Amino acid sequence: MCGIVGYLGKNEKKEILLDGLQELEYRGYDSAGIAVIEGDKLNNFKAIGKLENLREKTKAYHTEGFGISIGHTRWATHGKPTELNAHPHLGAYSYVVHNGIIENYQELKTELQADGVNFLSQTDTETIVHLFEKEHKSSDSVFAAFEKTLSKLDGAYATLLITEADPDTIYFAKHGSPMLVGFNGDDVYFASSDTPIIGKATEVYYLEDGEYGYAKEGVLKLFDANGEKSFTKQALTADKVSAQKEGYRFFMEKEIYEQSSVMGDTMMGRVLDDTINFEELDKDFFENIYAIKICACGTSYHSALASSYLFERIGKMRCDVEIASEFRYKEPFLTEKTLFITISQSGETADTLEALKMAKRAGMRTLSICNVDNSSIVRESDAAILTRAGIEKGVASTKAFATQSMVLWMLALYVGQTKNTISQELIKNEIDAMIHTPKALIVTDKLHEKVHRLSKRYLHGHGFFFIGRDIFFPLALEGALKLKEISYMHAEGYPAGEMKHGPIALADSELFTIALMPKSMHYDKIKSNVEELSARDATICAISPLPFDLADDFIQTNYDSHPMLEYFEMMVVTQLLALEISVRLGNDVDMPRNLAKSVTVE
Ligand code: M6R
Repeated sequence: MCGIVGYLGKNEKKEILLDGLQELEYRGYDSAGIAVIEGDKLNNFKAIGKLENLREKTKAYHTEGFGISIGHTRWATHGKPTELNAHPHLGAYSYVVHNGIIENYQELKTELQADGVNFLSQTDTETIVHLFEKEHKSSDSVFAAFEKTLSKLDGAYATLLITEADPDTIYFAKHGSPMLVGFNGDDVYFASSDTPIIGKATEVYYLEDGEYGYAKEGVLKLFDANGEKSFTKQALTADKVSAQKEGYRFFMEKEIYEQSSVMGDTMMGRVLDDTINFEELDKDFFENIYAIKICACGTSYHSALASSYLFERIGKMRCDVEIASEFRYKEPFLTEKTLFITISQSGETADTLEALKMAKRAGMRTLSICNVDNSSIVRESDAAILTRAGIEKGVASTKAFATQSMVLWMLALYVGQTKNTISQELIKNEIDAMIHTPKALIVTDKLHEKVHRLSKRYLHGHGFFFIGRDIFFPLALEGALKLKEISYMHAEGYPAGEMKHGPIALADSELFTIALMPKSMHYDKIKSNVEELSARDATICAISPLPFDLADDFIQTNYDSHPMLEYFEMMVVTQLLALEISVRLGNDVDMPRNLAKSVTVE
């Protein structure tokens, strides 16, 4: 959510910033901006909307020689997506970019306004630059003013500041939002994730919360609450696995098609002939653990919810799942005998990260299931299992969900195996099914064509109900989330058996029901739930391996022997349905309105 790039050196700064922001654009695309200081020349450009607008605006601008520069791509939190609200924010002689939220900005703003400062934007970020310039008046140095500024900020932030008062230095700070520093010779790079600097920097240092400092040509000074500190750089891969669309219309589409192949990576070395193996977990990782609590948000929450059925049924271990933003403020009762699992594609989701910190403070053992190595959530956890989905660029998560579901299924089995609560025969059956998963995820032309044709009937109406039972209930929630994210149509996921307790009141021919009807799990039960809806004239789109006479539309699936294989196959159908409806409606599938890929604010 929002992206930051910074560069200090002799290379063409505009291109470095714009290329870096391009890599981050999927995180926020309400507006973008850059600011560059070269000697006494200061330049600043901003544009609303996609980055291409900023590219267009800066076409004639080029940088030369040594300089310092910062850039930002924004997902609006405070104030509308306007140019005035776009970063970098300007004081009288300084610029700032910022990710996160300054919680006490209103208070600070009121004080600054009382001192006569004129605010141009509605953002919390602008407070930082004015506060800095105020502190600068009474400080011995720019650095002292920066330190004093930081000491007055509450909230979560990653920020870069440049100022004409010190035109060869970039000031930086990280507190709760991700930021890293890249190095290549005397050049210094900053970014909110490593993709913008891969191929440019050769070494990297991932800043920790509470760290701040400044960079000059060839020099980086790092500080925290205890004063100056040393740090160790790590080598940064030069292999830019920059996700390209490879002929697909959208990243989301490419990512749906990729699910079959990435699943092989997810299982590699973990699903063995007759056992599940996680090198990431010490042998005694589950010792003295008698329950599991999972916290996550959005799609990751849905994979968690599905896994709670598996942990109890296969792993024979109690499992509760909570939405991270709810968990944080409910004063939860936590015990050390419960394993705390967080699930996150990005590893940077603020609510999930904070929930994890709470669990750690309570002395719980923590495990993260994440797609991004070295992310804040991975670094904060006692152990981490990477989902190995590869870079996911579509804002609507697909392959991350698939691989999370697989890791959690494996983990449920691993728990039963480690705790000796399940038979070898059950382990063998589950593993046999797992091995077939990549096949169940293949998107055939026939299926895609069918979903494409059928999607034209679902462009209106007063809403969608996705219904399912057991693990197909969280899958229904996820199907509904996918659809609403990119089609902007109202969609809800519901446990099929719950419809008669209220929601069925909405049933009429303009209510579209997407019914997940697996053969291998409670088929007769869900069938009668769907019949009840059909009797009220709801339009039914059934997804099932078994023909269903009452369906207005029917998508026949192939797998019927194991619930998880049916789950994965139906997941693909719901993803394609959301995609095709959104395309027909003319929406931007990869960058849907109001959303961002990684939500690093509360
Ligand atoms: O990176 P995370 O998995 O922690 O993100 C959690 C949610 O923000 C994310 O799943 C969101 O719901 C997606 N847009 C879903 O498509």
